[in-house]
Amino acid sequence: MDRRAFLGWVGVGWLASSMPVVLAACASNNTDTQAQTNSTPADTPVASSPPSDRFVVVGTVADLTQKGQILNKQSAVGAVLVIRNPAAANQLVAVNPTCPHLRCTVDWKSQTKEFVCPCHGSKFATNGTVVTGPADKPLKTYQAKIEGNSVLVRSS
Ligand code: FES
Repeated sequence: MDRRAFLGWVGVGWLASSMPVVLAACASNNTDTQAQTNSTPADTPVASSPPSDRFVVVGTVADLTQKGQILNKQSAVGAVLVIRNPAAANQLVAVNPTCPHLRCTVDWKSQTKEFVCPCHGSKFATNGTVVTGPADKPLKTYQAKIEGNSVLVRSS
């Protein structure tokens, strides 16, 4: 066997023996990616991009229960403030907390059951309507619901 034929056989042998290792490495990477995609802790809200029904996750039921409200200024529907309806605790109320007067963020006051603007004192009912000015327009409202441990709001 001459030198050229010998090197040819060595090259083919190296390639044949390396192929299973390369394929196994690629296969295990795909499995890892799938495992990461499918493993979501039970208490973690899922992605907040709008699904086909246009509900997006804005927080967790645990947060709502603990704090009495969820204020999410960065949700996919924009700023949103979610509370339990004081008239029916199994229902949610969701509003855009941006005051229509000069755009301060309203606070939820559970004692008086109103949204109150800290800047100039406008007050809003749980359905977003103006109770006291200077604001002359209501807060924007959203549909809201609970699924599992997630609180979802529907974009309009
Ligand atoms: Fe809310 Fe003025 S910004 S009352």
